[in-house]
Amino acid sequence: MILITGGAGYIGSHCTLDFIRNGYECAVFDNLSEGHKEALQTENFYNGDLSNIENIRNAFKKYPIKGVIHFAASCYVGVSVTDPQEYYYNNVVNTLNLLKVMLENNVKNIVFSSSCATYGNPVYTPIDESHPQAPINPYGKTKLMIENVLQDYDRAYGLKYMALRYFNAAGADSKANIGESHSPETHLIPLVLQTALGKRKSIKIFGNDYETPDGTCIRDYIHVNDLSKAHRLAFESLQNNAKSNFYNLGTGKGNSVKEIIETSEKITGKSINKKFEERREGDPPILVASNLKAKNELNWEPDFTEISDIIETAWQWEKNRRY
Ligand SMILES: NC(=O)c1ccc[n+]([C@@H]2O[C@H](COP(=O)([O-])OP(=O)(O)OC[C@H]3O[C@@H](n4cnc5c(N)ncnc54)[C@H](O)[C@@H]3O)[C@@H](O)[C@H]2O)c1
Repeated sequence: MILITGGAGYIGSHCTLDFIRNGYECAVFDNLSEGHKEALQTENFYNGDLSNIENIRNAFKKYPIKGVIHFAASCYVGVSVTDPQEYYYNNVVNTLNLLKVMLENNVKNIVFSSSCATYGNPVYTPIDESHPQAPINPYGKTKLMIENVLQDYDRAYGLKYMALRYFNAAGADSKANIGESHSPETHLIPLVLQTALGKRKSIKIFGNDYETPDGTCIRDYIHVNDLSKAHRLAFESLQNNAKSNFYNLGTGKGNSVKEIIETSEKITGKSINKKFEERREGDPPILVASNLKAKNELNWEPDFTEISDIIETAWQWEKNRRY
């Protein structure tokens, strides 16, 4: 059985679904601080907190865990700047708790949610895995710290890991009626679609004088089902004795904020109110992944390569959201 921490959250629930669709048994460990009961894809649910090592030990007693996919974390970049303590505790200390219990139980395979935030300001684009890692906020630093911990634990204890550095997760599973639901929401696509639905007055565009073709920031949006598939392939390669490794997960294509809004207007048939604001500190103009390493070594290929297809699935969710 595979333990999915954070499996009641956005990406974790989709990943659980992907593993189950592919014949795996899963258990979810989540404290529901940000996740949703309605998003759970299995009855094997342990309502626990990673800060409580006995909770983790009990989950390992309850379920015959053979590997771990670790999503649970605090994920707001801005809050990590104003309240770094929560981030270092939840993302670093609590992950150390998890690793400790894994070692106690001789479970030595983990897929870890890292982030493109570990790269910091890009020195070149597209960003490949050899790009320097110099995070510019505590959130990115916590992710890099765990990558470093994993390297040391591999060397010392033989713990095998795959660190997956995602770019911008987006979209929803079109059949399962699960989707993105953060509170507060900070991600562009749900914010734009909620504006189309009239739930928000306008969408803020931070900066329109960047050195990009239309002046707005460019990001690499990857469908959550493609992310999920990559986790399964990464886990399977660990099962097949691959060495520990790290991979970027993105489509390799960038879309600007304006393109996201215009595509959303076409899909929703509504005009979306925009408000231009000053640039935000720490927002690089372009963040696009090179995904060749994951393609070549994990045999991974994203199914969603057009931003319109990604937004369409997000729109279906947004119109009918259950949580
Ligand atoms: N969403 C993105 O675009 C993105 C990009 C890069 C990396 N990531 C990483 O992917 C992972 C999942 O992101 P998401 O968008 O699904 O976030 P999310 O908030 O929807 O999911 C995180 C889940 O972890 C749970 N959790 C948090 N702390 C916990 C704790 N101490 N004990 C037990 N459960 C706990 C929450 O309740 C939630 O269900 C995170 O590690 C995040 O840093 C996300």
